Formats: sequence, structure tokens, C-alpha cells
Amino acid sequence: MNATRELTPLDRFLADTQRALDTVFGAPTAERDNPSDGVAQVELHDDERRHSAGLMRINHVGEVCAQALYCGQAAVARDPATRAHLLEAAQEETDHLAWCADRLRELDSRPSLLNPVWYAGSFAIGALAGLRGDGWNLGFVVETERQVEAHIDEHLDSLPAADARSRAILEVMKTDEARHADHAEAAGARILPPPVPSLMAAASTLMKAVAYRI
Ligand SMILES: [Fe+2]
Ligand SMILES: [Fe+2]
Repeated sequence: MNATRELTPLDRFLADTQRALDTVFGAPTAERDNPSDGVAQVELHDDERRHSAGLMRINHVGEVCAQALYCGQAAVARDPATRAHLLEAAQEETDHLAWCADRLRELDSRPSLLNPVWYAGSFAIGALAGLRGDGWNLGFVVETERQVEAHIDEHLDSLPAADARSRAILEVMKTDEARHADHAEAAGARILPPPVPSLMAAASTLMKAVAYRI
């Protein structure tokens, strides 16, 4: 990003579009090493491999949604510090996105075919939340990260015992998500009122049911 001049709305639109295309169709590269590097690759039974792939596809969609939510919010954030915070969080999620994609490939599987839909829906939700103001923006980050952390926990319980490589990735992601939530809280997040958290949980339950298969 060019730091020497103010970005125009067109610059930002083009950057958002580029980012969306990279997330959905590109091959994002991680800045950190994949946590499963060096963890033994154990041959899984077919049903175990399919189950692991279903879970890792859900996690991959979760990261696509996180990118889109943060970019949607950043697109409408009024305070430059909040915008910077959101874009930085999205950048850290890129590692998660790349690691989940790597693991899906190793499991002979693929990301969700509905990723363009998940991205567009999450971007719109993020922008709507962002229009409510910056305290809400950060409140949304906290709620998203806590919900992601909770479903990673479920997946750590549900993964086949032999799938140490997926487990290594999810453990690092879980620590990162907890840190993202703490940072947003410290930056002045509001607590979202009901029914927003329950609506977000319902949307994520639907996403999980679909993304496990498609
Ligand atoms: Fe993440
Ligand atoms: Fe996160």
C-alpha cells in the first residue's frame, strides 16, 4: 500500500477488489511457517480423511469470512486507527487461510465451492456493522474471534486422533484468535447487544453445516 499519499476512494475500491479476488481465487501466502511443518504425516483411513477435510474446509471458510468481515468494516471505518487495526487483523488471518488451504490439499480435498458467496455475504455484514461506528466495529471483531475460537475448540476434540498435522495448525490458530479478540477489546470494543451475537452464531452454524460438505 502506498503510504506517501492519501488513498482515494477508487484506490481503496480497487485494493478491496484485489484482496477479495486473492482470498477467493488466489493462493494466499503465509508469512509464518506452517505449524504442521515437521509433524509426521500419518496415513488416515478414508472416512477419517474425509472428516478431517470437512473440518478443515469449515476452518478455511471461517478465514475467508474473517478476511471479508474485516475488509468490509475497514471499507467504512471512520477512524484511521480502527481501519489500520482491522486491516492488520485481516493480514494475520492470511496465514490461517494459507495453512488451511495447504492442509486441504494434503487431505486430497479442496476449499468450499461457495467461497465467493461466503465472502460477499461477510463483506456486506462487515460493512453494515462498520456503519454503526468504530466501537461496534471492534465489538464485532471480538464476537467473531470468540466464536471462531470456540469452533476451533470443537474441531480439536472432533479431529481423528491420528491427524496431528491439522491439530498443529488449529492450535496455533486458536491462540492467534484469542489474541485478536483481546487486542480488539483493549482497543475499545463495545459489547454487542442481543440479538446480534445469537444471529452471528446462527449464521456460523449454517455455514458450518454447508461447508463441511460443499
Ligand atoms: Fe483466523
Ligand atoms: Fe482472528
